[in-house]
Amino acid sequence: MVQSSPCSVYVFDAYGTLFDVHAAVRKHEQDLGPNAAFLSEIWRSKQLEYSWVRGLMGRYRDFWSLTEEALDYAFAKVPDADQSKRAELLDAYFSLEAYPEVRSVLEALKAQGKDLAILSNGSPDMLKAAVEGNGLQDLFDHVLSVDELRTYKTAKEVYELVGTVFRAFPETVSFQSSNRWDIAGATAYGFRTVWVNRTSQPDEYKDLAPSAQLKDLEGLLFL
Ligand code: 2OP
Repeated sequence: MVQSSPCSVYVFDAYGTLFDVHAAVRKHEQDLGPNAAFLSEIWRSKQLEYSWVRGLMGRYRDFWSLTEEALDYAFAKVPDADQSKRAELLDAYFSLEAYPEVRSVLEALKAQGKDLAILSNGSPDMLKAAVEGNGLQDLFDHVLSVDELRTYKTAKEVYELVGTVFRAFPETVSFQSSNRWDIAGATAYGFRTVWVNRTSQPDEYKDLAPSAQLKDLEGLLFL
């Protein structure tokens, strides 16, 4: 028999955790050539770097702008990729596909009476498009964006948004992310943290260890 976890609120990072950040490039990989996967990696890593640097500087621009700037940088680094695909790639990124197990796991948690939310760097319009594009809108109690704070994870006030909305103590919140740096931030804040290590990355931030590590979200139902 599966025991229900003591956490009453389940909060999910969006990009890389619920939504597949490489799905946009994969959709157009035939046209992008042999370095398509490299283009996608640079796109994602620059998008994140811009969020950290702008967060530290206090020079906020929304995540959609950073996504566009990061793609332009990735095209400059991979000149053999067909830049005429820019608009189509951005369109695909705006409503990325969810990973296959996402819906069933969210439905099972909901059936257990858990409160569900997204907490993401994504801008409200891109999160809305991804959530609705995957038909997940009825499963979330809240979709929380950093946009109202004009800063990015791993700023403490971002994780504080969860407590403000749910009136829950951090230790009653289970926070899931595929991003190890996000897990470090959420652990420092005091959440129970579950690192969804989809791509078998080596561990880091050892002083800020997750409560559990999974290869996808399915195992969440058995913690
Ligand atoms: C997020 O959704 C950037 O994946 C990160 O907040």
